[in-house]
Amino acid sequence: MLAQLLHLEGIDSVVLEDRSREYVEQRIRAGVLEQGTVDLLTEIGVGERLRREGLVHDGIELQFAGERHRIDFPSLTGGRRITVYGQQEVVKDLIAARLETRRPLQFDVSDVQLDPQLIRYRHGGEDVEMSCDFVAGCDGFHGVSRDTIPAGVLTAFERDYPFGWLGILAAAPPSNEELIYAHHERGFALHSMRSPTLTRLYLQVRPDEDLDEWPDERIWEELERRLGVEGWTLNTGEILEKGVTPMRSFVVEPMQHGRLFLAGDAAHIVPPTGAKGLNLAVADVRLLAEALAAWYATGDETPLERYSSDALRRVWRAEHFSWFMTSMLHRLEDGDDFDWKLQLAQLAYVCSSEKAAASLAENYVGLEHV
Ligand code: DHB
Repeated sequence: MLAQLLHLEGIDSVVLEDRSREYVEQRIRAGVLEQGTVDLLTEIGVGERLRREGLVHDGIELQFAGERHRIDFPSLTGGRRITVYGQQEVVKDLIAARLETRRPLQFDVSDVQLDPQLIRYRHGGEDVEMSCDFVAGCDGFHGVSRDTIPAGVLTAFERDYPFGWLGILAAAPPSNEELIYAHHERGFALHSMRSPTLTRLYLQVRPDEDLDEWPDERIWEELERRLGVEGWTLNTGEILEKGVTPMRSFVVEPMQHGRLFLAGDAAHIVPPTGAKGLNLAVADVRLLAEALAAWYATGDETPLERYSSDALRRVWRAEHFSWFMTSMLHRLEDGDDFDWKLQLAQLAYVCSSEKAAASLAENYVGLEHV
């Protein structure tokens, strides 16, 4: 995304990816795009398949105490919506756009070292060395770029949650037109989708849950129990993919050291509830691209100096929202009846007060200004 934004500003870059093209194009991640993310993808010419295949959603359903309550986005946010489109589909479209520019995009690189503007890596059996004006560390939570920043520069803020999500992709038509976030005494469950024939479903489990203990029948039974309401049936089908994701919140400040700028998961992680991860990464690189474009055009350092504090305002808003959705919807392992009642009170408030619903909705579709 950053490479494409820079290319449109006439700025060249080299993209290094340590995985294979097949891996990044197949790996299933989240699937909810904020309005601003869709708008930006469209603006940079990568929105064509997204417009054809993306599923535009006008709301979500919150389920608790055995009932569903709808939150309508357009009426609460001045016409904003979300689009369900798999992250790996966005990745495919961005790779195709990059290849079309014929600018470098290298897969399967290894041994990347930043020193800090001199980059060394291995690619195709050869050692490569390259110097550059700037490095954008867009290499995820486990990437190398954050770790090259000397000790003492970054402050980390963290929270681990005592649960994870068991996620499946199933060859079954979605059982509801919209996403369902279900609060249930057996734990949280989420009904989502990828297309008219593919359902994506999640169950709250332990963070170290053993998938071997979850044969397909047990997964379907548990989903049915947690998502079921009177008169509704869950469509089932072949389970195409299964995995467990642990959940954590993590932020480093600042998101910059010298000429190295961190973006996306390299700088911050959110728990998945509310699907902010990809959208935050896109918001980061939009700011970074604008700041770099200003520097190349006029030599003005100010936008680059402000990148970290500007990005962190949105990051912390999303950290709060993701924590809020997670805390409101999950069964707390060491929680008591008081915690349970607080969650129900909060859910009832969000679904009965227009102002509370509007707050959830504007965060969910993505704030325009933070
Ligand atoms: C999906 C993931 C999320 O974390 C979420 O809040 C909603 C949907 C998904 O993968 O479809």
